[in-house]
Amino acid sequence: MKNSLETILCHPTSFAPFKDVTGSSHFPIYNTATFDLKKQTNENGKKIYDYTRSDNPTREALENLFAFAENGAGAVCTHTGIASVNLLFETVLKANSTILVEADCYGGTNRLLKIYKDKYNVEVISANFHDFEMIEHILKSKSIDLTLCESPTNPGLKIINLEKIAKLCKKYNSLFAVDNSLATFISQKPLDLGADFSLFSTTKYISGHGSVIAGAIVAKDEEWANKLHYYSNAHGHNQNPMDVHLISLGIPSLKIRAKASSKNSIKLAKFLEKQDFITKVTHPALKSHPNRKLAEKQMKIIPGVFCADFKTVELAEKFIQNSKIFGEKCSFGSPDSRVEIPSKISHASFSKEELENIGISPSTVRFAIGFEDIEDLKKDLLQAIK
Ligand SMILES: Cc1ncc(COP(=O)(O)O)c(C=O)c1O
Repeated sequence: MKNSLETILCHPTSFAPFKDVTGSSHFPIYNTATFDLKKQTNENGKKIYDYTRSDNPTREALENLFAFAENGAGAVCTHTGIASVNLLFETVLKANSTILVEADCYGGTNRLLKIYKDKYNVEVISANFHDFEMIEHILKSKSIDLTLCESPTNPGLKIINLEKIAKLCKKYNSLFAVDNSLATFISQKPLDLGADFSLFSTTKYISGHGSVIAGAIVAKDEEWANKLHYYSNAHGHNQNPMDVHLISLGIPSLKIRAKASSKNSIKLAKFLEKQDFITKVTHPALKSHPNRKLAEKQMKIIPGVFCADFKTVELAEKFIQNSKIFGEKCSFGSPDSRVEIPSKISHASFSKEELENIGISPSTVRFAIGFEDIEDLKKDLLQAIK
């Protein structure tokens, strides 16, 4: 009998590299820098641990879990989500490489790309991944080492047809990576849709409690998984065992949390659509969203993050300042609802033109919805804007 993913994720100890004899609900925390080589038996050809930067059984358990959940060959857990993006670049790109990236991407990824461009002469081609003709033209006319996108995108909440982009990448020999931070593996499987890598900030929905910063990257093929592991050790990106433990605590409840956040966010987005101080609401679950059908096909749960354009910047600021529930915070996937102005915080690395290009204005507010009572959220919104 094959159990479903959510059942398996409620029993994370099965992913530990050693057989557990205690019946513990969580995998053990090996909080050590070093291991005594003389005391390791290497029974059954199991690997030898020497130094936690290279390998640690606690981290290995979480890596096994992520590789399984994403249907990949292997995973690496990093100390931040952006370290996973960086690890991907370090592993795949060389000086003078070319990367094709969806124009609407996380501000930290955009900042990192600017560094690669300036320091290593990496050519960064930023494009609209809805325009398949243009994407094919770019892939055909240039040698693209890596293609990268998020779906849904942050902050524009575009839904990218991952299967179509993956096919184009295969045809023209580009590696394809998807940042799965918003949807997570409980909802969307980029590797099953043809991507070579799925990476994510575990700071968000996966940890789920806003208590730790971390990330992970999963490779479809063993060869790339080994290369990721090699570079992660060499560059020192590997996550420490205590943080691995904190991340692992959120995993059994991932599905119910993702569903609760999604449900609340859809209700609030519909409520906001009716308000005269709002000019536009962008939520992939709303009828007004141009990629709603694809969103429903590609994801089992639509994430609880959306954008709303206020009539004026002053109104947006007024709402944020007067709200008693919504903190002005970046990040998403925590129990508490929060808001931020992307042009000011998470996407401050974008130029005015880059923001305009992805449809983000100074009065766009990104909402990341938690588990509060929906009526309290609505009441708070109205009192804040009065
Ligand atoms: C889509 C996306 N990818 C990557 C990151 C980076 O993750 P971290 O903040 O954990 O470094 C973020 C952070 O907000 C994000 O939104």
